[in-house]
Amino acid sequence: MLPTQPHAWTPVALSADLPAASVLPAHLPGGALAVWRAEDGTVSAVADRCPHRGMRLSHGFVRGEALSCIYHGWRYGKTGRCLAIPAHPALSPPDAIRVATYRTGERDGIIWVTRSQEAGALPAHDGFVGLRSITLASTPEALVSSLGGTAEGGSLDGTIGGVEARLLMAPAGDEGALLCHLLVAADAMLEEKVAASRGLEELRRRAEAAGTTRAAA
Ligand code: FES
Repeated sequence: MLPTQPHAWTPVALSADLPAASVLPAHLPGGALAVWRAEDGTVSAVADRCPHRGMRLSHGFVRGEALSCIYHGWRYGKTGRCLAIPAHPALSPPDAIRVATYRTGERDGIIWVTRSQEAGALPAHDGFVGLRSITLASTPEALVSSLGGTAEGGSLDGTIGGVEARLLMAPAGDEGALLCHLLVAADAMLEEKVAASRGLEELRRRAEAAGTTRAAA
């Protein structure tokens, strides 16, 4: 039910949750990522493991156009190449010191990542805008049955808090957890956004209860 095809794009975060000069953790099927936005607005995604001693790069920080590891400060550029090693300021790091990078894209207020070089155009959700992301201790099946309707390619339409909305589902990293991005109409009023956000919390309670019931059955 989640988009697991090798050339699929995965919705990892809302654009609004990744301002300039910041980094956050994310997940693709098969591994953890650090997704970061340079000060010029460019989004990059790298494996969440520093080549030096394995610290999570999502714990790091962004200065200018580089992501720095929080442990010893090794600095990585958008291509994944190590640009500087603070303990050896005169050293130009060998080209072989680099972190794996992944393709990224932004559309409709959503950040997408793929491992594939052959992935096509980004999924379109015209007329919608990302409102909120939430993690559920549940399954896609329990979420779909709690909301009603059918999921297609990780996307689920329905009424949430009385508001027409769309959910995009993605892996959350922990086993048995699910990341959901709530999209509402781009011209939704503030009160509709508040209602949809509250409705999503109620939907989470129902989906988690349904997931628990299924696991116990
Ligand atoms: S572990 Fe990242 S710089 Fe040392």
